[in-house]
Amino acid sequence: PGGTGHRNEIFAEMPAMKTSKYHHPQGSFPEVRLRRNRQHPWTRALVAENHLTVHDLVWPTFVQEGEQQRSEVDSMPGVFRYSIDLLIEQVREAQQLGIPAVALFPVVPPEKKSESAEEAYHTDNLICRAIRAVKQQVPNIGIIADVALDPYTSHGQDGLVKGDVVDNDATLDVLAKQAVALAQAGADIVAPSDMMDGRIGIIRKALDATGFHEVSILAYAAKYASSFYGPFRDAVGSASALGKSNKRGYQMDPANGDEALREVALDIAEGADMVMVKPGLPYLDVVRRVHESFSIPLFAYQVSGEYAMMKAAAEKGWIKEEAVLMETLIAFKRAGANGIFTYAALDVARILQQHSLGKCRIWQ
Ligand code: PBG
Repeated sequence: PGGTGHRNEIFAEMPAMKTSKYHHPQGSFPEVRLRRNRQHPWTRALVAENHLTVHDLVWPTFVQEGEQQRSEVDSMPGVFRYSIDLLIEQVREAQQLGIPAVALFPVVPPEKKSESAEEAYHTDNLICRAIRAVKQQVPNIGIIADVALDPYTSHGQDGLVKGDVVDNDATLDVLAKQAVALAQAGADIVAPSDMMDGRIGIIRKALDATGFHEVSILAYAAKYASSFYGPFRDAVGSASALGKSNKRGYQMDPANGDEALREVALDIAEGADMVMVKPGLPYLDVVRRVHESFSIPLFAYQVSGEYAMMKAAAEKGWIKEEAVLMETLIAFKRAGANGIFTYAALDVARILQQHSLGKCRIWQ
């Protein structure tokens, strides 16, 4: 009464008024007790703001030459490099568990590596053979193929080296050829992880010019120069090639957040269908900002070093592996990721299956 009708005044007069996302709660203790909603497993389930399902998962995995070959990655317990025949069995299992897509990475034998990475676009290279085999034998799962030259360069860089720099524009032609070779082999999504400027546009043009307008591009838009990639480089054998060099001349500086939004904006403008933030957990602020700034499917990559840290601490008995793993994944969802790349995808899918049968107690 006697007020101006201004919203703040109305709120002040009606402390019990329903709160929304945009207003802080007006009530207070002891009437308001947030613990009420946390009392039982069923109340917690009822009010949960985010959910993780098997459809949120992408399984990154490694393929090697040979037959009946399987080798564990030392720094990633439980993660294996599979020869194509064994890979098929694993991918079939992923498909049966309901995982929508796999991301395949090749372990290229040293003799196939060169300064100019020609092997990257040979249509009969390891990754193309793997993609063809998976497509043929496990048709109902998406195949995501990495576009970057590091598995193929003798120096381990993602692009061609001239002098002491990675030559952006010379690299683009090779990336375009690589993307077309992957599409020809049957990749559903190509995922440029190289961080060259302009690569999304060039790859989109190359795919369209060769009849692959249906092939999607998942841009590793905000990919940081991270030390969390160490175990991955062991897995694919690029660590020794890279030696003491680094990728700071093209991957992003961990100090930067605003710049990630520019990267994402450019990649969307150039034709990206989906974007990625990578690594995952240490960069959830970036995930959140991309989610709030753009309307495009957004993925986060729980990278090799994140996986290795969880495994190592669990092996020591210092953390509970399943519980910590599931907590990290719901954190990705809370931050705004649509999906998560995780090396633990198969285990997670099995955990979720038990959960839906009411057997899993980790959320309780
Ligand atoms: C290659 C590539 C890397 C990863 C995915 N694609 C390594 C790198 O950039 O050095 C890292 C994945 C991981 O650590 O799990 N361009």
